[in-house]
Amino acid sequence: MALTLSLGLSSLGASALGGGAAPVTPAPVPSAPISTAPISTAPVSTAPISTGPVTRPTLVGYAEMKADTFAQGPASGAWNGGLRGEARFSGQPVQGFSGVQRDPQGQGFVFLSDNGFGAKNNSADYLLRLYRVALTPGTPAAQAGRVQVGSFIGLRDPDRKVPWQIVNEASPERLLTGADFDVEGFAFAPDGTLWVGDEFGPFLLHFSADGRLLEAPISTPNLAGLPTLRGQAPIVIGHRGSSGTRPEHTLEAYRVAIEAGADFIEPDLVVTKDGVLVARHEPVIAVVDKDGKVLEATADVAARPEFGDRLTTKTLDGVTVRGYFVEDFTLAELKTLRAVERLPALRGKAYDGQFEIPTLSEVIALVRDMEAKTGRKVGIYPETKHPVYMNEVAKFNTSQLLIDTLVKEKFTDPARVFIQSFEVGNLKDLKQNIMPGAGVNLPLVQLVSSPDEAPYDWTAAGDKRKYDALTTDAALREIATYASGVGPYKRWIIDAEGRTTDFVARAHAAGLLVHPWTFRNEATYLLPGYRNDPEAEMRQAFQAGVDGLFTDFPATGAKVAGQYAAPEVRSPQHPAFAQGVSSAVANLPGSGGFEGFTIAPGGKVAYGLLEKAVAGDPAGQLRLMRYDLGTRQWTLAGRYALEQGGEAIGDLTPVSDSQLLVIERDGGQGQTARLKRLYLIDLGAKNADGTFKKTLVADLMALADPRGLAPSTRNGVFSFPYVTIENVLVLSPDTLLVVNDNNYPATGGRGADVKDQTEFLWIKLPTALKLAPGVARN
Ligand code: G3P
Ligand code: CA
Repeated sequence: MALTLSLGLSSLGASALGGGAAPVTPAPVPSAPISTAPISTAPVSTAPISTGPVTRPTLVGYAEMKADTFAQGPASGAWNGGLRGEARFSGQPVQGFSGVQRDPQGQGFVFLSDNGFGAKNNSADYLLRLYRVALTPGTPAAQAGRVQVGSFIGLRDPDRKVPWQIVNEASPERLLTGADFDVEGFAFAPDGTLWVGDEFGPFLLHFSADGRLLEAPISTPNLAGLPTLRGQAPIVIGHRGSSGTRPEHTLEAYRVAIEAGADFIEPDLVVTKDGVLVARHEPVIAVVDKDGKVLEATADVAARPEFGDRLTTKTLDGVTVRGYFVEDFTLAELKTLRAVERLPALRGKAYDGQFEIPTLSEVIALVRDMEAKTGRKVGIYPETKHPVYMNEVAKFNTSQLLIDTLVKEKFTDPARVFIQSFEVGNLKDLKQNIMPGAGVNLPLVQLVSSPDEAPYDWTAAGDKRKYDALTTDAALREIATYASGVGPYKRWIIDAEGRTTDFVARAHAAGLLVHPWTFRNEATYLLPGYRNDPEAEMRQAFQAGVDGLFTDFPATGAKVAGQYAAPEVRSPQHPAFAQGVSSAVANLPGSGGFEGFTIAPGGKVAYGLLEKAVAGDPAGQLRLMRYDLGTRQWTLAGRYALEQGGEAIGDLTPVSDSQLLVIERDGGQGQTARLKRLYLIDLGAKNADGTFKKTLVADLMALADPRGLAPSTRNGVFSFPYVTIENVLVLSPDTLLVVNDNNYPATGGRGADVKDQTEFLWIKLPTALKLAPGVARN
């Protein structure tokens, strides 16, 4: 039976009795103006359930509210995908419950309606409300249960506390809608005010007892506890600029990298005949075979007949190379060349022939120019290429040239320069002689290549050791005597099987920053486990604790790093995105906010449990945020680990100040539902990985119902196969109330053609919970 509900003390609506499918025709509702009547003190009641002990979680009471249950209010359901059409319903749907508490003014319950019709862009005419509901459980004695919906609290913002535009912006009452907030849990504080957890921010919302917003929405800080060396935000280094999208080591590649959000840009440095440092990855700028075919090039020199006499063969770090070498060109000659794409088969040639080879001084000038344009500080991360070769063949100490250039250009802020090298001796020379001589002290980074390679200065000196000799604990401590960090080949961090190694932890233990290389978007560079998702590789590196990474695609790096180190946790529905805030970063999946929200029995702290994992957190680990209602400080209480097959949490309710019950669920419904469970967590009991220990309290897919209280029970077993189950409340030490969110007007829980109803379960537990005083007050 459809319901007609009205407001006020004496107007409790009709009941919805158990059993049967709901009619599909919307109920007629009065067209009375909307009101925000406080929850009344009408004498509703919740009948006590008497039953003997049980040996497994058992259904001891049951009731239903039909799907089409409406309250007074404006017609609704007109929005679909952001487009407004005809209203589908002539009133406001009551159902879609996302939170439950005892009625502080009566003996019944208060239920929070979810944000409407499933999405922000469908719910602008769904008014956010809490409904007073009296429940009478169906029992063998009482037969069918009874659900009576009473008055409601309308959530509203007449005092304009919300600092962005809301749906009902101009109306005096400023009633809040499902397009403004996605309300998923609530609790009453000891002072009688109402706290609500939201998913769009996610925000905490603080209302008076009658639903008036008291303060601006409270944002959720990103308290990740970054596993970097000092907890600092990791940096993104534009490897050879944005070399994935522009020819490497050009001012354009560097400019694009900075625009994309790179914190540092990386010029590899070689030297010209006249002693000027220029940005090239190698001294050889075109490698040709014996027939004159270009094998690899970063400049168009092979097509310049005027430089034909420079084609030569040299030994570069023990390798015979035929080609054109920078040290055989004056800067003026080099400036007549144009850069070409080094990997044309992969990255195309669209930008060939457009850009010069830049000097280090020009790179610094670009950084200054971009800083002025963007307002961001940007650093440079120069690498002196092949120091032994440069000394012996090009006849320049490029380490000295580098320091001389930085001093001349007045670019010596140690927060904006890292100097890196694959060799060891030149870094020690920089630390011990060159930098002190110049009066500067810039951080150095020891590059560590793959274990089959060796620092060439070692090889040249007859030392047979390879790079793995730089990765022992003792070697890392030795590196820390001259360098601030290590720049390892990324397989030192994540091995070829995709496993995170202990390298970062060991380097951090030696006090070293870790900046691995090279992260690239193209599938050919990604392990299969990343399924062509370069962000997944970066996330794993950030989770491993790296302090930064080199990437050819700094836009991707900046996006992932931004999610990881953003000051706030934000969903894609956060209002900052609608406002076009350019720095806004979404680091939480949609519908991943405070699905669980409650206030501990002591009344001093609130807990919000995110429904999904924040970007950068281990997969399947959900943050439990603690909010001190007195000091207004957030802390991270810990992480809740989902089960294998668990996809989200549905609600959170206290057992005591240290124990909470959590609904965990998968995304299935009806025949596809597998995991719908209640777990108990203790805030003081954690696993080795820091997640809360969990105790299974009830499997909602297999509750005993020996007396057949629910119409769906088969063979004495009751299943609760709804996609979302969003309400749990402790009624007594061994009795819980559990209710689904029927996502009105969804179907599928009890059949493809059956509109989901709201089902109320009284569940008796075989073992009593240790309740804090006041948790179950009736
Ligand atoms: O310098 C570290 C990173 O750039 C990787 O080396 O060969 O690209 O200069 P490479
Ligand atoms: Ca480099």
